[in-house]
Amino acid sequence: MFRIAVLGGDGIGPEVTREAVEVLRLIFRICKKDVEFIEGAVGGDAIDRTGKPLPDETMEIVKKSDAVLLGAVGGPKWDNLDFSIRPERALLGLRKGLGLFANLRPAKLFTPLVNASTLRKDVIEGTDIIVVRELTGDVYFGEPRGVFPMPDGSKKGVNTMVYTTEEIRRIAEVAFKIARGRRKKVTSVDKANVLESTELWRRTVSEVHRDYPDIELDHMYVDNCAMQLIRNPRRFDIILTTNLFGDILSDEAAMLTGSIGMLPSASLGGRTSLYEPVHGSAPDIAGMDIANPIGTILSAAMLLEYSMGLPAYARLIESAVERVLEKGYRTKDIWEDGCILVGTRQMGRVIREEIERIASLD
Ligand code: IPM
Ligand code: MG
Repeated sequence: MFRIAVLGGDGIGPEVTREAVEVLRLIFRICKKDVEFIEGAVGGDAIDRTGKPLPDETMEIVKKSDAVLLGAVGGPKWDNLDFSIRPERALLGLRKGLGLFANLRPAKLFTPLVNASTLRKDVIEGTDIIVVRELTGDVYFGEPRGVFPMPDGSKKGVNTMVYTTEEIRRIAEVAFKIARGRRKKVTSVDKANVLESTELWRRTVSEVHRDYPDIELDHMYVDNCAMQLIRNPRRFDIILTTNLFGDILSDEAAMLTGSIGMLPSASLGGRTSLYEPVHGSAPDIAGMDIANPIGTILSAAMLLEYSMGLPAYARLIESAVERVLEKGYRTKDIWEDGCILVGTRQMGRVIREEIERIASLD
């Protein structure tokens, strides 16, 4: 039987995952699949219960699961803890522990939200990008790292930006393969004019590209990419980039679509893949039933596509989301005049009703 580990985590995490799990339950009813959900603790919630952000028990649940659906981790309550046991360490531990080196972050504008972005309509119309972010290398994991004492009594903070040919090669393969099913265009983003590790990145991506002559490849420096993203987002199809640059550029790409609350992600590369919204735990609105569950619901759609081989049902969820937005339903983060303001639960409910409606037409 297929098993999904559900790690709600902190802040709005549990409420948005609840809606996504309900969507999945409905889909499995429709396609008559037997799927087991197992809950586990992660992040600050796990620290409160066990003293650790990623308890062994959670790691065991995750390792015997076929996919993980995660809400969000972190919050001010745990901000003063030592670096090594902060909630965010759980995410890094899961990524590394499961070998999830490929992070896909699609930033696609839903047409009904064209006015929800802070950017002009004529700029963002037609935006459809996937950021392919390397997820287990770079300064996030490079050694040495730490804060070290200096002879004069001051301190030195160190992180190391490092990439091996093999790490670059495997993420580049992922990007080129995904590009084949899309507009066949990869933009590799680096800082090869200054950083040796990304000079190697550029050279290696070009080498891998020789096996993908049907794909168009261009290279861009990260500062220029940050600018081009808000100048002319339509020029991008796949953005292939490093862990740190991908972290930054994917938040920027999110704003092209109106709200970071809309964006899903998939982390692939190991036996068990992980799916989570791009947004954080938003502790200021936790428990108020106002958070946008769409990013997590679309992450559940990615789970159906990438872990279960059910792309048609992923498309079904996406169509339902699009229809619900067309009908004017909006959570607070994407609300505009004349629209119907709904909470987290009601947004989940109307999306499920729409899924049932579309499924019954087929
Ligand atoms: C993300 C987040 C994480 C990251 C943090 C919470 C560790 O910003 O998934 O983009 O930096 O990767
Ligand atoms: Mg980030």
